[in-house]
Amino acid sequence: MHGQAVIETPRLILRQWKQADKKQFARINCDAKVMEFFPAHLTRAQSDALVAMIETHFRKHGFGMYAAELKSNHTFIGFIGLNVPSLRAHFTPCVEIGWRLSPGVWGRGLATEGALAVLQYSRDVLGLHELVSFTVPANVRSRRVMEKLGMSHDAADDFDHPQLPPGHPLRKHVLYRLRLDPSA
Ligand SMILES: CC(C)(COP(=O)(O)OP(=O)(O)OC[C@H]1O[C@@H](n2cnc3c(N)ncnc32)[C@H](O)[C@@H]1OP(=O)(O)O)[C@@H](O)C(=O)NCCC(=O)NCCS
Repeated sequence: MHGQAVIETPRLILRQWKQADKKQFARINCDAKVMEFFPAHLTRAQSDALVAMIETHFRKHGFGMYAAELKSNHTFIGFIGLNVPSLRAHFTPCVEIGWRLSPGVWGRGLATEGALAVLQYSRDVLGLHELVSFTVPANVRSRRVMEKLGMSHDAADDFDHPQLPPGHPLRKHVLYRLRLDPSA
């Protein structure tokens, strides 16, 4: 059984989370390639807690990080979606667009395809006016997705992640923004 699509693209279904996604999500969250630019890999319990936080976020805001499923075989491959970050920084409050996919499907344009559909949904259905995205400078894959979405980077927006201590190698972040003008 696969879930009901909130957003559909040629190759992806973006939908609510299911119990069965948790096992594969935990695998993704302890993969060294996936977590290269995060402070720590997640244990199964931490990964499940992240799913619970995502579900709480959906209840609060009506949108969130959608579970991403391949249309071809209904495999769960990670998340693509929206988040209202809890951190406080010069650009908050804001809505962030983000993604985390299983390395087995990287390099096929899936993050960009899903994120473009999320961007359109943000503008046309949710009526949002701006999206941001942020990562460490070295995360070129993610920055490339941001650029392909048409997001722009202004060095004046760069910031130190407030949840990481001074001197931490992942503290410095680049911020990308995208204005969402109502579609004609
Ligand atoms: C970031 C991520 C979602 C991208 O997924 P994806 O489906 O491979 O993304 P896409 O195929 O749509 O685009 C990736 C782009 O990065 C480029 N890229 C990949 N590796 C690269 C590298 N080493 N250097 C430069 N560019 C690179 C690809 O060529 C592609 O750009 P192109 O279409 O212009 O060629 C995936 O790598 C991921 O889950 N990473 C771990 C989690 C993460 O970092 N999330 C973001 C946190 S802010």
